[in-house]
Amino acid sequence: MLYSWLTVVLCLSLKWVSCYEVSNLTFPDSFLFGSATSAYQIEGAWNESGKGISRWDYITHSMKIVLDGSNGDVACDSYHKYKDDIAILKELGVNYYRFSIAWTRILPDGFTNDINQDGVDYYNNLIDGLIEAEIQPWVTMYHWDIPQVLNYIGDFNNPNTSDYMVYYADTLFSLFGDRVKTWITINEPITFCAHYPLGSLALGAVLPPGITEYLCGHNVLRAHAKIYDLYQRKYKESQSGRISIALSAEYAEPATDSAADLEASERKLLFDFGWFAYPLVYGNYPSVMIDTIRNLSSLQGYPFSRLPTFTLEERLLLKGAYDFIALNHYTTSLTADASADVKSPNFLNDALVNQYKDSSWETSSASWLTVYPEGFRKLLVYIKKTYNNPEIVITENGYADDPGVLNDEGRINYIKSYLSQLLKAIYEDGVNVTAYTAWSLMDNFEWYNGFTVRFGLYNVDFDSPNKTRTAKESASYYRNIIETRCLVDVCEE
Ligand SMILES: *[C@@H]1O[C@H](CO)[C@@H](O)[C@H](O)[C@H]1NC(C)=O
Ligand SMILES: *[C@@H]1O[C@H](CO)[C@@H](O)[C@H](O)[C@H]1NC(C)=O
Ligand SMILES: *[C@@H]1O[C@H](CO)[C@@H](O)[C@H](O)[C@H]1NC(C)=O
Ligand SMILES: *[C@@H]1O[C@H](CO)[C@@H](O)[C@H](O)[C@H]1NC(C)=O
Ligand SMILES: *[C@@H]1O[C@H](CO)[C@@H](O)[C@H](O)[C@H]1NC(C)=O
Ligand SMILES: *[C@@H]1O[C@H](CO)[C@@H](O)[C@H](O)[C@H]1NC(C)=O
Repeated sequence: MLYSWLTVVLCLSLKWVSCYEVSNLTFPDSFLFGSATSAYQIEGAWNESGKGISRWDYITHSMKIVLDGSNGDVACDSYHKYKDDIAILKELGVNYYRFSIAWTRILPDGFTNDINQDGVDYYNNLIDGLIEAEIQPWVTMYHWDIPQVLNYIGDFNNPNTSDYMVYYADTLFSLFGDRVKTWITINEPITFCAHYPLGSLALGAVLPPGITEYLCGHNVLRAHAKIYDLYQRKYKESQSGRISIALSAEYAEPATDSAADLEASERKLLFDFGWFAYPLVYGNYPSVMIDTIRNLSSLQGYPFSRLPTFTLEERLLLKGAYDFIALNHYTTSLTADASADVKSPNFLNDALVNQYKDSSWETSSASWLTVYPEGFRKLLVYIKKTYNNPEIVITENGYADDPGVLNDEGRINYIKSYLSQLLKAIYEDGVNVTAYTAWSLMDNFEWYNGFTVRFGLYNVDFDSPNKTRTAKESASYYRNIIETRCLVDVCEE
């Protein structure tokens, strides 16, 4: 009764075309809640205290591609205001904070011959402050802000970058691994390898499409596997942490019930999530990727497959190189078969699908982000089934709205409806989801969208010198979920 009343009120107040079912199940006792940010999006202090230049410093200063012409020079000024960040995390009551380390703050030139003590001090202070507040530090090593010097030599298209990242990771383990027990090596490789080909943009050159996406992905996987292996050999015994790589996946909802569209949906999930997850779980790319790209390459006149192959040694290193599946999920697209239509070589065309949005899905302030909570549950069930029922940690999930919205009902509805589907996946489908990370703790620099769209639970006043953080309604709602472990007023015991 209470729940139906709530639903009706929410539906009317925002004129939603569809209303979402809200679960009254209780989160398991061991379930963890957190929130996340990344270094370039919040830290600012881009040229202070010995920090080197990252790709995003370079992009925002040298190229006019950010929507509002902004940059992350100051952003939330978390380099100076990390105590404010810890205070709001404490207010939220989260179990952990997922943040990233800026490679160029630790290694200004990208390499370990120069370690910047000010950068080390900054992260030590942040980590110690979190631990003192009883918040676990979860660290992402690389969240898109690669040292510009490595971008100049080809980024992850250069196999040596994998090795350089291993040295960086080794440095982080030895500096912070006594206190950091959850590591994410790399965030969303599909985004920087295939969706935002920033390597090519920053170099001012057009790299060959259909080639570099796979080279980049290949070297990302090699880097991850080597870092995982290094940790097992050198640190696991003394530090006993766990490691994964954060993979983003949309759900690919079949556009119709036809066999061709069902197959297209499977194929797209294997191209997107499977590109990285399959090698980690099974030691190689999904055979549908191997076969499809080989056939397409041949049709397109290449004497080799555009998808590289792993050596046997690499396959052995890859297989099992994860302690849990780290999933970033936001949205779903309808997926239709397009296998009759061979287009020009590039990652998006290679999956031989057409994707679009259902017009009935609620939209957000980010064009790519439409609201379809059922897709979240379907994706979780798909991952359970396809990847041997792994432990799944949601490392990102969140909603985009406009600047200045403090009464953010759209975000509350999103969190409520997505977490409802997550609870169903746990209790009705037996999916082993153990943690949920709300993206993002606070409004921040949203890459190409600059400051035009907002993902924060906390509003940041970017005009104020203090970059004042103010709780939105969604922050209170999230805090209440964490406190009660329940999405509604009364939950099932
Ligand atoms: C750092 O960048 C700011 C602009 O964001 C500039 O005003 C300042 O002079 C720079 N500082 C140094 C040390 O280069
Ligand atoms: C860089 O790559 C070359 C060619 O594969 C290799 O010989 C060399 O050892 C690599 N250097 C490092 C530091 O990994
Ligand atoms: C690739 O081509 C071979 C030979 O023509 C064909 O048997 C196979 O079905 C094709 N596979 C895919 C996934 O396109
Ligand atoms: C979920 O995964 C964790 C970590 O592997 C494991 O300890 C736990 O028993 C699993 N829970 C279920 C219900 O499978
Ligand atoms: C900015 O923060 C400082 C220290 O937290 C505080 O003393 C000051 O009043 C704040 N200024 C504004 C305008 O909020
Ligand atoms: C939870 O929801 C179910 C049906 O959706 C209902 O039967 C049950 O009474 C509810 N429990 C509570 C405590 O409200």
